[in-house]
This record gives sequence, structure tokens and C-alpha cells, in this order.
Amino acid sequence: MLSPKIEEALNAQLNAETYSGYLYLAMAAYFENMNLTGFTQWMKCQAREEFFHASKFYKFIIERGGRVRLRAIDAPQVEWESPLAVFEATLVHERQVTSLIHNLVNLAKAETDHASDIFLQWFVTEQVEEEASADQVIQKLKLAGPGAGLFMIDQELAQRTNTPLVTGALMGTAAA
Ligand code: FEO
Repeated sequence: MLSPKIEEALNAQLNAETYSGYLYLAMAAYFENMNLTGFTQWMKCQAREEFFHASKFYKFIIERGGRVRLRAIDAPQVEWESPLAVFEATLVHERQVTSLIHNLVNLAKAETDHASDIFLQWFVTEQVEEEASADQVIQKLKLAGPGAGLFMIDQELAQRTNTPLVTGALMGTAAA
């Protein structure tokens, strides 16, 4: 069983992950309007990963005998100054998510909820990758500058794909 405090915190994180997916979908739409198809692809993959993260929380809450309580999702920002500004906002957002995850780990430990603690370790590792991948694009954008460099990066980002586990998570075709 989940303690009421942990159940509430896991539901809050389910909402935060869903919001992240919504934010990255807004960023994908921003790039799609600019005809930057590779940036769009990267952000759509990122959005799917977030919905996958949300589904992991959903599944875990249910498995532990808790109640999933979905709540309103905040409207994300929809305009940015430049592609660089989008990725800088991505990194800031991922750092915030990292601190939410760390707070959750602290709570699980304080409540001696070992199962939640172990479940959350996956996200601790994932956040290292999430921050690094946003930072990597920022560094490339800074090096390349605007113009032709942007199109080169666009081609590179077009290579990103999701694993079947991620794409199938919301459809119930993969065990999240
Ligand atoms: Fe679900 Fe990007 O952290």
C-alpha cells in the first residue's frame, strides 16, 4: 500500500510528466511552423518520452494499490525567441524535473517506502540523460550559429526515434 503522502506526491509527478509532454509538443509545433522538420521530430520524440514517463507513474500507482487522480494540465508557453531559446528552456525545465524527482526520492526514504525508492531510481538516472541531451543541442546551436548550421543540426535531430516501449506505452501495447 502507498501512504497517502506518497500517493499524492506520485500523482503530482504524473501530472508534471504529462505537462512536460505537453510543453514539448508546444515546442514541436513551434518548430513545425518554422519548417524545421528535424527539430520537430526531436521534440515529438521528447514529448512521447514524457507521456511514457507519465504512464510509468500511472502503472506504479495502480500496482501499489493506489488511486490515480488525474488533474488539470497547465497551458505551456507557445512562443520562443529562437531555436536556442527553446533548448535553453528545455534544460531549465529538465533541471526542475530533476529536483522534483530528487524530492520524491527524499520523501520515499523518509517514509521508508523501499518500493517507491527503487522505482524512482530509474528516473534519477533518466534525468541525467535528459539534462545532457538538451545541453548537447544547446552547445551545437551555439557552435553552429544561425543559417546553414541550423539546417545541419536540423538534419541531425531528424535521426531521433523512440523505442517500441515508448511508442507503445500509452496504447497499452507495451509494458510501461
Ligand atoms: Fe520526464 Fe524529461 O523528464
